[in-house]
Amino acid sequence: MWYCLHFCYHLVVVQRNVAGEEVQELKWEQCKMEIKVLFVCLGNICRSPAAEILFEHHLKLLGKESLFYLDSCGTGGWHQGEKADKRMRQTAEANGLTIIHRARQILQEDFSKFDYILAMDDQNLKDLIAMNEAARKKIFLLSDLSEDYLSQNIPDPYFGDMKGFENVFNLLNKVTSQVANTILHKHF
Ligand code: 4NP
Repeated sequence: MWYCLHFCYHLVVVQRNVAGEEVQELKWEQCKMEIKVLFVCLGNICRSPAAEILFEHHLKLLGKESLFYLDSCGTGGWHQGEKADKRMRQTAEANGLTIIHRARQILQEDFSKFDYILAMDDQNLKDLIAMNEAARKKIFLLSDLSEDYLSQNIPDPYFGDMKGFENVFNLLNKVTSQVANTILHKHF
């Protein structure tokens, strides 16, 4: 997880005179602005931590990382506190990226904190919607925010071999690149 702030200015009316009495005055005020994106899979040790670092990687290539707050989590809590699966960490390292994330289970407060809650597969999507139907508008299948991978599930590599991890990493690389562009175009 990484954290960075972006600031914008907006105009506010301050109503106070020299005696401290309120009169009308215009003033520019600095405020914090960041887009918060949460990547979600089942265990938070394979797909979602990889999606998070790849999304961050694409933002950095575009020079836009300071506009975002990113995190990942699992719908399940079996791996709470664990490092990402060694096979996914090795795959990331082989591609020049490091996963330092520790697994955590999604919290109810995540549904209000984040602007985008991105599920890796249809089951994750269903589980997330069931957990907080009021947040439906911010919950998406990750690939549905891409151009070329609409409706595609990111397959769970956990019970497979190393090749499966490489395939998932390569798919996530392409999908997160497009998703980063989609979200950036929507906001800027
Ligand atoms: P992930 O993969 O959801 O991509 O982190 C899995 C990790 C662990 C398990 C299932 C999927 N598990 O059954 O423990």
